[in-house]
Amino acid sequence: MGILQSVLQNLGNGTDAEENNSARDRNNARYAGNCEYYYRYSDYDEFSYTKTRPVVSENGGKKPPKLTVRWIKHYSSSHRILLVGDGDFSFSACLAVAFGSASNMIATSLDSQNFLMRNYRSASSNLMELKIRECKVMHEIDATEIANHPIIGRMKFDRIVFNFPFAGFFKELSRDAQLLRHRKLVSEFMKSAREIISEGGEIHILHKTNGFHKEWKLESLALSHGLRLIDAVDFNGFDYPGYNTKCGFGGDNNFNCYPSKTYKFRLGYNWN
Ligand SMILES: C[S@@+](CC[C@H](N)C(=O)[O-])C[C@H]1O[C@@H](n2cnc3c(N)ncnc32)[C@H](O)[C@@H]1O
Repeated sequence: MGILQSVLQNLGNGTDAEENNSARDRNNARYAGNCEYYYRYSDYDEFSYTKTRPVVSENGGKKPPKLTVRWIKHYSSSHRILLVGDGDFSFSACLAVAFGSASNMIATSLDSQNFLMRNYRSASSNLMELKIRECKVMHEIDATEIANHPIIGRMKFDRIVFNFPFAGFFKELSRDAQLLRHRKLVSEFMKSAREIISEGGEIHILHKTNGFHKEWKLESLALSHGLRLIDAVDFNGFDYPGYNTKCGFGGDNNFNCYPSKTYKFRLGYNWN
């Protein structure tokens, strides 16, 4: 069995390296209590529907299509999708359920599996859902280094998704210093992600549009990496049944994710 096959086979089974992460986990837990510092709790756990669209026949409609391409909002079962910075994996699980089979997806977290189990009560059921639906799950994946990852870095994706990137809670730092950290995270993510999007592929960032978040200026970060904004679509949690927006960094708190938009970027400098 080749190395790639063997590693892929083991994806989602956790890792023995978790002990090495205790320092980061302790650090994360330190920030957990500070979630409310930025976000107010929001009560969106009930969602109602998913959408499917029939596949468009490529043979002039002579034969009925054998496969159905399933859609949920911006994402389809025919896209090769990489998700980074997942929280409790509820967003990935929601997509997987909508697609039926999630073999087109790789869902990743910065956190170790151990951290997720200790902090998110739904992590285990979400990870199970993903495993059943053949999604590849990987932990301890740094979104700013994806192009250098030995497996992910060799692949191409039609959609690379980072929902609510956030570098952590740094009460002791000045506002400007915090802003710098968050912008650095997004900038380095974009720089890495652009290397592994397919032709016509898109990088999606779900991001709040008010207050402090407005100052992140995603579009100018994107431009500095040769990425252009092609669309910015209002976020509605009801489009993603079961998705809980997590503060991250410990604790199981959700945050108020409104108002937010999905910002879509493609390679290139112009709108044409
Ligand atoms: C506000 S939370 C959002 C979590 C999740 N995406 C959601 O929508 O519920 C921010 C997340 O960014 C992740 N994160 C921070 N730095 C990261 C990095 N360098 N690579 C990958 N994820 C990162 C954290 O682990 C945390 O889960």
